[in-house]
Amino acid sequence: MSSDAGAVAQALAGRSFASVDDFSNQELAYILALASDVAEYKESFAYACRGKIMASLFFEASTRTRLSFETAMLRLGGQLVSAIDIGATSLAKGETLADMARVVGGYADLIVIRHPWEGAARVVAEYAGIPVINAGDGGHEHPTQTLCDLFTLQRERGRLQGLRIALWGDLRYGRTVHSLAFALARFGATIVFRPGIGLAAPEHVLSKLATDYGGELVRGDVLSQAEGEGVLPVDALYMTPRSPHQLAMLPHLTAQLELDQGVDALYVTRLQKERMETMKEDLRPEDYPVVDRSLLRKKGFERSLVLHPLPRVDELSLDIDSDPRSLYFKQAHQGVPVRMALISLLLGCSPRRVEPSEWFEDDWRPVAHPRYTHETGVRCANERCVTNQPSELRYLPRKFVLIVGRPPRLRCSYCDHEMAPPIVATAEAYDEPLSRRKYHPARSRWATTIRPENLLLFASAEDAEAAGLRSGVT
Ligand code: NCD
Repeated sequence: MSSDAGAVAQALAGRSFASVDDFSNQELAYILALASDVAEYKESFAYACRGKIMASLFFEASTRTRLSFETAMLRLGGQLVSAIDIGATSLAKGETLADMARVVGGYADLIVIRHPWEGAARVVAEYAGIPVINAGDGGHEHPTQTLCDLFTLQRERGRLQGLRIALWGDLRYGRTVHSLAFALARFGATIVFRPGIGLAAPEHVLSKLATDYGGELVRGDVLSQAEGEGVLPVDALYMTPRSPHQLAMLPHLTAQLELDQGVDALYVTRLQKERMETMKEDLRPEDYPVVDRSLLRKKGFERSLVLHPLPRVDELSLDIDSDPRSLYFKQAHQGVPVRMALISLLLGCSPRRVEPSEWFEDDWRPVAHPRYTHETGVRCANERCVTNQPSELRYLPRKFVLIVGRPPRLRCSYCDHEMAPPIVATAEAYDEPLSRRKYHPARSRWATTIRPENLLLFASAEDAEAAGLRSGVT
């Protein structure tokens, strides 16, 4: 065992896992290596979490995730308390998530929570005082499903680095694909986005891919110049440049070359009906892309593994279940060792140390975007965000990071949604009286001259005027 491996294990103890970006690449690789070890030396883990209690709070439907978490805790010798119906908890009486977190944090040693509000797990992690695992927060993220997905990919392809993966189906409301896309980008992947009509990945997911992971995002309009069979039609393509030469090439030619190489895996998802307020009229079931035997015969898919977080509905034909490339049931079974590894590490009671097969010299760390600390009345525009729920907005601070650019954007620290408030001003202290301070359009050149820490952003000219500013446009 290298001392590095020991340090990685130790650093995970006591932490929460609300987003896949909470852990570095090395930490993710360590969890996967420990999951392989669990599968091999199950008996060594049988009493690892004896005396520990996991609170299993599932406020949305679940079969695999809840049962695999609970099985994992029981196989580690731990015990459970659980709530599966929000109506049977005090949340239904108007209790805040923060209060619930503080109370349950005093009973259990670890919380696993699935909740319909985006960012809910982050709030619980902030208030519980014990490790919290996000088992799915609305359409935002599902980081432990990503661990299962990466585990399956690494086992079958022998590595995590540099894979080519097509994300397929409901990329808009499906949370598993959001966490997976971020993780894959960090491991130098090429990601092909193949959504159903009207189900493209949300803008904030694409924009985070473009700003935070060092690769290039090529959008649909450029891709439409690329010709091809097989993988197309493709809505967006994320590429990790493999050579400086690649960057210099025309984007549509580079994209074409990438697409021509086919994909290591198709990651298929079902239509997330429950998250669509009203089924859109133009969303016809026959438009939803289906993976079946004839697709797997096409160019680019000959070697493609088929993954799916399950449950499936109609998007995955039954005729491929016996195909050796179909891995979805295996993927689901691996949920138990993967979650045993995660739980034992967060509780600091893993009985074994392992050596990950891949080490990352320059380990990935989240980009340190500046925090936006000014009170200018800006609210997250995502109505499913936890900060916009009546019980929560009374106490939750609005937290954003600033994505510097033209226009500047604010990213919600809970749900990751981004917005570009249209009005800017500077907070720099200067001698002029307040009444002579000006506001400007956020896209103006003037806005680019303000230092990030002084940038004030407003949702409207009225808000800026209410703060005592006057229009700078003459
Ligand atoms: C997924 C989920 O809940 O997001 N299921 C799972 O956890 N395996 C995918 C889905 O429900 O479609």
